[in-house]
Amino acid sequence: MSVRDDAISAHGGGELVDLKAPASERAALSAHAAKLQSVTLNARDIADLEMLATGAFSPLTGFMGEADYTCSRDEMRLASGVPWSIPITLGVDEAIAKSLKTGSEIALATEDGKRLAILKLAEIYKVDRKNEAQNVFGTAEDAHPGAKNVTSMPPYCLAGKVTLLEEIPGRTFLEFPREPRQTRAAFRERGWKKIVAFQTRNPTHRAHEYIQKAALEICDGLMIHPLVGETKGDDVPAAVRMETYKVLLDAYYPKDRAMIGVFPAHMRYGGPREAILHAIARRNYGCTHFIVGRDHAGVGNYYGSYDAQKIFERFQPEELGITPLMFENTFYCKRCNSMASFKTCPHSDADRVILSGTKVREMLRAGEAPPPEFTRPELAAILVRAMKDAK
Ligand code: ADX
Repeated sequence: MSVRDDAISAHGGGELVDLKAPASERAALSAHAAKLQSVTLNARDIADLEMLATGAFSPLTGFMGEADYTCSRDEMRLASGVPWSIPITLGVDEAIAKSLKTGSEIALATEDGKRLAILKLAEIYKVDRKNEAQNVFGTAEDAHPGAKNVTSMPPYCLAGKVTLLEEIPGRTFLEFPREPRQTRAAFRERGWKKIVAFQTRNPTHRAHEYIQKAALEICDGLMIHPLVGETKGDDVPAAVRMETYKVLLDAYYPKDRAMIGVFPAHMRYGGPREAILHAIARRNYGCTHFIVGRDHAGVGNYYGSYDAQKIFERFQPEELGITPLMFENTFYCKRCNSMASFKTCPHSDADRVILSGTKVREMLRAGEAPPPEFTRPELAAILVRAMKDAK
C-alpha cells in the first residue's frame, strides 16, 4: 500500500518526504560524497537530518532556506503558508561559509568523518541567532536550554535538499518503530484509524498514564512516543525512561491498543512553539490526535501552564491536520481517591499529590521513591536504581 492510500496525508497535504538514497544508488553516491568538501554535524544536526530524511519533518526536504527561515521564525509558517513553528537550520561559521559555493554539493559528516549525506547547496545566508532565540523561545537567555543551543549555533546557514546515504549512526531502541513509514505500517496492521500520540521526555508517572488512557477512551490506539534525541543534562536519560515505558506497557496497557514508538528529535524546550512542531511531526508519523497537557515542552517558568494549548488557536484545524487533545494539570487527589484534574476535582492542594520535576529528581537522587500515587512502585524502583548507578 502506498503512502497515498493512508488516511492521513503528510503535513502540508502531500506525500511523506523520503530523502534516503535508494539502496541501488548508495555505493555510487558514497563514492561521489567521498570527493566532496565536507561539513561536520553535531548530535542535534544529525537528529534534524534524520527527521528530514525519514519524512518526520515533511514537507521539508532539507535544511531551510532564508525565506522559510524568516517566515517560520516570525510567523510560524513556511514561505508557502504551511504552518511551521521552529526554524530547522544547519549552522556553520564564517570561514566554512566563505569556503563554499552555492550550486555545489557538500558532504555532511559525523565528527569521526563518516559521510552521511549529500547537501545540494541552494543558499548560504547569515542570521541573527539572538533574534531567532528571542522570537522562537521568547528569550535569548542562557538559562533557557533551547535558547542557549540556538545562540551557540554559528550564524551562517547552509540550505538545500539533502540525500541520506548511510544509516544514522548510534540509533538505539531498534525494537520499536522509529520512522513515519514504520509507524504508519504498524497502525495499518493493527487496524487503527484514530491514533493518539503522546510526546514525552520525562519518566512516566501517574498523570501521564491518566491522560494517555483518557485519550485512548476516544481513540482506537495510543502511541507513546518518547523523544530520544538530546535533552538537557539533568533530564533522565532515554535508556532509563524507555525501561519504565516498557514495564508500564507490559503490565498496565492492552497490547492491541497501545504501542511505543521512538521519536529521534532533540528537545528544544520551546513550550508552545515546540508543541506545534511536535504535533506536525506526529501527523507525519500517521497520528490523528496529539496530547497537549500542562506546560508541554516547557522549562523553568518560561511559559504559562497552558500557553502550549492556546497557541493552537493561531491555526485552522485543517492546516495542522492533527487534533490536539488538551488536558488540565492532573494529579492524584486523596479525597477523590483517584486521579483527577483542576477541571474535575473540587478539593484543595492539601489533598493533592503534586510533585515538581525538580522535587522528584531530588527524591530519586536521595534514593527515595516518589509515593505510589505519583509513580507506580515498579517504575519508581527502576528510577531509584538508575539514579544510584549514575552516582
Ligand atoms: S514534555 O517536555 O515532553 O512535554 P513530559 O514528558 O513531562 O514533558 O510531558 C509529556 C506530556 O504530558 C506533555 O503533553 C505534558 O503537557 C503532559 N503532562 C505532564 N505532566 C502533566 C500533568 N501533571 N498534568 C497534565 N499534563 C501533564
